[in-house]
Amino acid sequence: YPSNPQMGDGSILERTNCRAKGGAAGFKVAILGAAGGIGQPLAMLMKMNPLVSVLHLYDVVNAPGVTADISHMDTGAVVRGFLGQSELDGALTGMDLVIIPAGIPRKPGMTRDDLFKINAGIVRTLCEGIAKCCPNAIVNLISNPVNSTVPIAAEVFKKAGTYDPKKLLGVTSLDVVRANTFVAEVLGLDPREVEVPVVGGHAGVTILPLLSQVKPPCSFTHEETEYLTKRIQDGGTEVVEAKKGAGSATLSMAYAAVKFADVCLKGLRGDAGVVACAFVASQVTELPFFASKVRLGRTGAEEVYQLGPLNEYERIGLEKAKKELAESIQKGISFIRN
Ligand code: NAI
Repeated sequence: YPSNPQMGDGSILERTNCRAKGGAAGFKVAILGAAGGIGQPLAMLMKMNPLVSVLHLYDVVNAPGVTADISHMDTGAVVRGFLGQSELDGALTGMDLVIIPAGIPRKPGMTRDDLFKINAGIVRTLCEGIAKCCPNAIVNLISNPVNSTVPIAAEVFKKAGTYDPKKLLGVTSLDVVRANTFVAEVLGLDPREVEVPVVGGHAGVTILPLLSQVKPPCSFTHEETEYLTKRIQDGGTEVVEAKKGAGSATLSMAYAAVKFADVCLKGLRGDAGVVACAFVASQVTELPFFASKVRLGRTGAEEVYQLGPLNEYERIGLEKAKKELAESIQKGISFIRN
């Protein structure tokens, strides 16, 4: 037996390779930033997903440790680890879905935009790898500021000639998860019964919960609307402050990321009626990117839904969201073009 069979030294038993190829309905998934606060629980949850046959864990630190650990779970997916830039190509080749939680998180007092300087470069490098090694993969981008990193990824793919807007999805599912939880609390319902569409983007006022469209149908007082909207918009900051410098949301984010990855895989599999909110290339507003409900299919986000009827409160929120979003999108685009 090789000393570290999961680290891609090529000597793992043939039987494992057979298993990796054999799982008929399995997809190949890579996590970039897999050793981080989000990456580790995300890797664990993806290893538990029966739709995954191969799981590649890439990071610039500690990938071998996380890989050895996760690989002992007795679930179907074959796990392989990849450490550092020189192994990025190996991590990406052949992947159906690439999930990116690489980059630094917020500390108290920081906005998501404060992360731009460092994370923009990380996302660029990783997306160049995707363009080269798995240009047809679906990309789930978690690294903040999502409102800028998605436009960055789009520009990298355009430059490489591989851009398919349907395949690039900014992950906003944590906003939906939080909205479902907080709304359920106010309504006295089980959060699993509640569905709140959250549109716009993924930072502060760009996070726009559409409380007038909550399922099951319900109504809120003005105070409840204000409380809920603000709490959903500031949910990330709530966690950042509670962690007092030790990072931002990681466990709830890993949960939300897996929920979203799962709908992407179900779409790839060809399931009907798979719908979730995501930050995508969009014609729903005048902005080139916007988060709204999308239908996921074999080729990615195959349909981007209109916002539906908004009330006065939401219309005002939408105008605020668009103003900030426009700047963040432009910042991302300029980072690559200039
Ligand atoms: P973390 O610092 O715990 O982990 C980040 C990981 O990325 C580390 O293991 C680090 O080694 C790795 N990394 C750094 N540079 C890399 C590179 N060039 N290639 C591959 N990996 C690299 O941070 P955490 O808490 O996991 O957060 C990650 C990102 O997710 C942050 O940008 C954070 O703001 C964002 N985030 C996004 C949310 C969303 O809703 N979209 C919610 C919460 C966090």
